[in-house]
Amino acid sequence: MQTEPAKPLLRALAGEALSSPPWWLMRQAGRYLPEYREVRARAHDFVELCLTPELAAELTLQPIRRYGMDGAILFSDILMVPFALGQRLAFQEGEGPVLARIEDLAGVTKLDPGRIASSLAPVFETARRVRGALDPRTTLIGFAGAPWTVATYMVEGGGSRDFRRVKGWAYRDPQVFGALIDLLAEATIEYLAGQIEAGVEVVQLFDSWAGILPEPAFVRWVVEPTRRIVEALKLRCAGCPVIGFPRGAGMLHERYLRDTGVDGIGIDTAVPPSYANRSLQPHGTVQGNLDPVLLIVGGTALEEAVRILRRTLGRGPYIFNLGHGVLPETPPENVQALARLLAEPMDA
Ligand code: CP3
Repeated sequence: MQTEPAKPLLRALAGEALSSPPWWLMRQAGRYLPEYREVRARAHDFVELCLTPELAAELTLQPIRRYGMDGAILFSDILMVPFALGQRLAFQEGEGPVLARIEDLAGVTKLDPGRIASSLAPVFETARRVRGALDPRTTLIGFAGAPWTVATYMVEGGGSRDFRRVKGWAYRDPQVFGALIDLLAEATIEYLAGQIEAGVEVVQLFDSWAGILPEPAFVRWVVEPTRRIVEALKLRCAGCPVIGFPRGAGMLHERYLRDTGVDGIGIDTAVPPSYANRSLQPHGTVQGNLDPVLLIVGGTALEEAVRILRRTLGRGPYIFNLGHGVLPETPPENVQALARLLAEPMDA
């Protein structure tokens, strides 16, 4: 028999509304922390950093030591999956990721899903180390990019403004593009199951570019592969909750939450909290959605925004987070102020 989950983040994901919400921040490890910049300077490149368990475990734990978040997110990157599949990947200073573009069936055929478990074994080792170092109330969060978002980087060869290549391919030849999405869904299942076996207690699927697709394409390339991943993980890893983050999904959030089977949904900054309380919390746990710029500004603007979120979303199952990642300009003391605000009882 399973015992009641005691960790606040897992309780929230099981549907409980807690009096002070569990919290963590997307990109809570990163350049805004001086101790991150110090470790980063020691590694030759970012991919190597993600594949060095000693350093990746240290980076995962840095924000927890300072602020005591309820969730520690494994330090890695969503582009480690294309890297493990054999695609060339480099992170260039100030330019973001650059990948050798994939544009046709020949490109898909070259990818080798058999390499996931061995190439990403160091990430599993990081998870093992971090899990062993966390105190009993902190939850270890694993993650992967969702197939659509990962495919955008693989096909565009990096970031993009208009996503012409990847959308063009998906509309022109859904069969072959579908083979890429299927392969990514399988690789993602392998990768997340490996993380869970190594000690990860919840996984988040980042679908950062979910919001650029019209409804039929959203259903086919966002909802369907996510549903398939959630279904497979629920079979393989009993009880491991899944959070989906379909950034920019707007009016399709409810559809995503109901049809994918995720336990929790991350909402971006543009989603009204009242809508999330009314239409999403009846179907799952909501996570979000403080504007990351408010964490740069701090002061009363931050306090007021946090109060509104807690009043509205705190009525249902809720995990406090940002609507997108922590920005590098964020003063570390504002994160400290946020930690204090979240620990206060509600109407103090
Ligand atoms: O949240 C965490 O603290 C855990 C680690 C994490 C990173 N990336 C580390 C990282 C997570 C969960 C991610 C997710 C990620 N990576 C996403 C989805 C979320 C989102 O932002 O939409 C995406 C799209 C990526 C791809 C990626 N990685 C880009 C576009 C870039 C370059 C731009 C940037 O912000 O630097 C990265 C690099 C990256 N990933 C850094 C970190 C800490 C910065 C690397 C450095 O130190 O220079």
